[in-house]
Amino acid sequence: MTALPVIAIDGPAASGKGTLARRIAQALGFAHLDTGRLYRAVGLAVLRRGEDPADPAAAQRAVEALDLSLLEDPELRTDRTGGAASKVAAIQAVRDALLDFQRNFAAHPPGGKGAVLDGRDIGTVICPDATVKLFVTAAPEIRARRRHLELKNQGSARTEDQVLNDIHTRDARDSGRTVAPLRQADDATLLDTTHLDIEAAVARALEIVRAGLRT
Ligand code: CDP
Repeated sequence: MTALPVIAIDGPAASGKGTLARRIAQALGFAHLDTGRLYRAVGLAVLRRGEDPADPAAAQRAVEALDLSLLEDPELRTDRTGGAASKVAAIQAVRDALLDFQRNFAAHPPGGKGAVLDGRDIGTVICPDATVKLFVTAAPEIRARRRHLELKNQGSARTEDQVLNDIHTRDARDSGRTVAPLRQADDATLLDTTHLDIEAAVARALEIVRAGLRT
């Protein structure tokens, strides 16, 4: 049996990778896994237990007892949960515990046509043999503007400057950690969405993906 196609999409916070992954999956009829939700669910579980997301023992307890209904929790997308996610994501035991789930999804995607996974280490660690790899980025100021709008729509009072600050902190933590740091895989195509709106970014990403699927 030949392996099904896997599209790996990585990039920093608010780069647009989530929207791109969803739209690519829709266009191709593939299943989509937003792996950030897994780390967010672990971060949220630690916060709800009143523990410190940077504490490896607390994070390990939370991932081992992970309640999958947290993946649908309305608090999953808040900036507080995002910050906690990036702390638990730097802990090796957490990443190890989530590895099989992600690889299994890529190998046996619901629908049986193919998989799109987005995150930070899909092309480098989770699916190093992915059929197509995209690394999506944008200038920090543009990412802050997008994330600020998203948070404002959720009723958050954070200013754009505060969000930019959060983004710088999270970028530094995600890229600077020793375990599975955020970096572009050598064989990934770079897509900079700084000057692209959603539709233009989706069109460009689909061109890259379709070309990759043909080769
Ligand atoms: O939506 P946004 O890009 O802000 O974040 P996310 O994709 O939901 O991921 C939240 C946090 O989880 C990130 O800051 C990373 O630290 C971590 N993460 C990771 O380490 N590896 C992944 N494959 C996905 C997320």
